[in-house]
Amino acid sequence: MKITKICCIGAGYVGGPTMAVIAQKCPHIQVTVVDLNVDRINAWNDPNTDNIPIYEPGLSEIVAAARGRNLFFSTNVEKAIDEAQVIFISVNTPTKTYGKGKGMAADLKYIELCARQIAKIAKENKIVVEKSTLPVRTAEAIKSILDNTGNGVQFQILSNPEFLAEGTAVTDLLDPDRILIGGDTTPEGEKAINALVEVYSSWVEKDKILTTNVWSSELSKLTANAFLAQRISSINAMSELCEKTGADVNEVARAIGMDSRIGSKFLKSSVGFGGSCFQKDILNLVYIAKSYGLSEVADYWEQVIIMNDHQKRRFSNKIVQTLYNTVADKKITFLGWAFKKDTNDTRESAAIYVADDLINEQAKISVYDPKVSRSKILSDLDYLATRSSTENENLVQAFDDAYAACNNAHAVAILTEWDEFKTYDWKKIYDSMQKPAFVFDGRNILNKKEMEAIGFVYQGIGS
Ligand code: UDX
Ligand code: UDX
Ligand code: ADP
Repeated sequence: MKITKICCIGAGYVGGPTMAVIAQKCPHIQVTVVDLNVDRINAWNDPNTDNIPIYEPGLSEIVAAARGRNLFFSTNVEKAIDEAQVIFISVNTPTKTYGKGKGMAADLKYIELCARQIAKIAKENKIVVEKSTLPVRTAEAIKSILDNTGNGVQFQILSNPEFLAEGTAVTDLLDPDRILIGGDTTPEGEKAINALVEVYSSWVEKDKILTTNVWSSELSKLTANAFLAQRISSINAMSELCEKTGADVNEVARAIGMDSRIGSKFLKSSVGFGGSCFQKDILNLVYIAKSYGLSEVADYWEQVIIMNDHQKRRFSNKIVQTLYNTVADKKITFLGWAFKKDTNDTRESAAIYVADDLINEQAKISVYDPKVSRSKILSDLDYLATRSSTENENLVQAFDDAYAACNNAHAVAILTEWDEFKTYDWKKIYDSMQKPAFVFDGRNILNKKEMEAIGFVYQGIGS
């Protein structure tokens, strides 16, 4: 089967960039991205592509070139489903906030709604592709909904997990380490797999496209994220030990990273990992392990989350202790709010939890992030429900300018590793701050010696 029409349900951080790149690389395929959220679709259709709802380096140029040619954004979900041969499901799967599995399991209600909608509308055979990260055996649930429509339409369910990281989504999509496609081992399943392999092979070498059964594919995604997060918690655990012993975690990371069996990536000690995936996927893994009665497996992976929570808490405690055990009424400036550089995404960002701790200590928080608005910052804090929105509004200020944000501050805390922070005139910032002037570098991006030469009391992570 030759694919000429693709629909993607969900115009978010995964669906948007992935479909833009497919449209760019496959001009013969018409790609329609649909979403229930009217504002989001309007933003994707904004005549000025700088205003698309997701900030990713290189993305707005790709959208500008393909939009209206073979890339479309629409709220007409039914029409897009009806016309497409392949439907990607790329909706959000947050951790459940209610009922059984609350705080652990993935909430599949959006996935189920999509499956039901596809079942209702489809009149011809279709390939349905799981793109969202899902618990193992979700494909089975989707299949049972789709196979019970009674209208004779045949569906093939594929798992094609996304491995892109935010901030580098476009390069990750253009030059992936691998593409993973899981499907049924029946002849029809293999046909569907091959159809999707054809799409990707427009720009990805065939030997980088792995095909597996559905369950291996689903579990590989969770495993990859669990391993990556585990590396960060492992190095963060060592950072605390380094602080006590006089070792330097950067030196340790460098030394172990040169062992080719360990590798040098993902060993940067930090204030803690964030993002929509790591915590959610590990909680999900823990929940699945528990549901099979595998308590040792569950406990093993849960420790990665416990360590990460500890690292965030440790950072806020260090600020309070260093500032003579009180931050009440002190201005503490956060440089960065996003969960990592080069993205406007703040989901599970360490900054949210550190701010919440410091506000509990009655600190006044000022924030500068080049891509995050005040309303987003406030809604992140409100979501924790620690205090009223009015209180958050009174205690948190946001600035469009980093120097203004730091003016008169008792301490500056770096929460995101934005490159621009390294190029600031730190002497100018020092001169405008209360003395002693403290810098807590949660990303180890500044040079301790240079900062101390200016006069700062500087503390990084793990040294
Ligand atoms: C280890 C370190 O590799 C070495 O760098 C250090 O100097 C000493 O300790 P060693 O114990 O000799 O070396 O062997 P190694 O190859 O690391 O294997 C250790 C154990 O892990 C073995 O029982 C091996 O069978 C097991 N292993 C190793 C696995 O079960 N799976 C693997 O993927 C690798
Ligand atoms: C992750 C996976 O990398 C990606 O493959 C998957 O598809 C989605 O989840 P993402 O969450 O976008 O991607 O970003 P990632 O670069 O993995 O960073 C996650 C968090 O870990 C960030 O908060 C980052 O700052 C932190 N991190 C990363 C560290 O603290 N140290 C490191 O060495 C690497
Ligand atoms: P991700 O990081 O997984 O891409 P996002 O939250 O950024 O997650 O995007 C998911 C998108 O899916 C949201 O814009 C949401 O409005 C959309 N969505 C959720 N359920 C449906 C549905 N049934 N039909 C269409 N769009 C949906």
